[in-house]
Amino acid sequence: MDLNALNDIAERMVTPGKGILAADESTSTIQKRFDKIGVENTEANRRDYREILFRAADGMSHISGVILFRETLYQDAADGTPLVRLIERAGAVPGIKCDAGAKPMALFPGETLTEGLDGLPAQLLKDRERGARFAKWRATIYIGDRLPTLGAIKANAHALARYAAICQEVGLVPIVEPEVLMDGAHDIEACDAATRLTLRLVFQELAEQRVALEGMVLKPNMVVPGQDCPRQASVEEVARRSIAAFKATVPAAVPGIAFLSGGQSDEAATAHLSAMNQLGPLPWKLTFSYGRALQAAPQKAWSGKPENAAAAQRAFAHRARMNGLASLGKWEGVLEKAA
Ligand code: 13P
Repeated sequence: MDLNALNDIAERMVTPGKGILAADESTSTIQKRFDKIGVENTEANRRDYREILFRAADGMSHISGVILFRETLYQDAADGTPLVRLIERAGAVPGIKCDAGAKPMALFPGETLTEGLDGLPAQLLKDRERGARFAKWRATIYIGDRLPTLGAIKANAHALARYAAICQEVGLVPIVEPEVLMDGAHDIEACDAATRLTLRLVFQELAEQRVALEGMVLKPNMVVPGQDCPRQASVEEVARRSIAAFKATVPAAVPGIAFLSGGQSDEAATAHLSAMNQLGPLPWKLTFSYGRALQAAPQKAWSGKPENAAAAQRAFAHRARMNGLASLGKWEGVLEKAA
């Protein structure tokens, strides 16, 4: 393992002022997004949509890395250029989502275990050959009646650590993504406790599986109440609790934390990131790795019509710029209105 090379890539992925575009929706997830805008989920439409984003020079100037679904990694633009080359030319690092999804976990009703370790080393070597420089694996943790269980968190933490070890051995930076979901009516205290327990167990497994923390990026949820919780939290409370939870559980050797948006509104995801960065100095860089919070606006603007490509690129550029400022703690609500 060349730890210096991995660390260089990880540092690039969390460059201040930039963040990661999570464009790695599986074919079934992009179906849900396309259904909302009335677009048929064909390979050509998926390609055309993502090509619009990767060719958006303004938006991409705030993007350090792009996470791809495997189809996209091997797809060519309409003119035959590999999509992965468009990302490199825009100055961003391409990466691959390599888990096979969260599946119901045997004997643990209501919980999931993420699959995909079988055959992973050989597949990742091919993905690296094609241009991937990092990978992503997402584990999902549910809060509910007597959930999450220790058994489910441990199994997911172990799989995340084995995945991360395989990545580092083949020369890819692992994005380690344990997501405590915001589905449900639980309060912020429940998310706080589940997030701390999950991160503690994840870093214990990473250590046991010999993963070098300097060569990884953490992609966690923020500490937020469930989306149906009657008591929603202020931006300040989310920022304060999130930073306290990470300081207690995430070693300083980790170069950066790149958050998922997880169903937060576009503006809430941006405001929370900016508020957290204002609580510095912090041991790690804090940035975004948003899917929905970066793409909802451009998807709506595009709506499957080629003549809307420029409008979609403008919508993407705006959200990318806002989140880039948030990664510096410099976002302000008035900037949204000005646009
Ligand atoms: P969201 O920002 O939409 O949660 O997506 C990020 C991601 O990559 C989930 O795995």
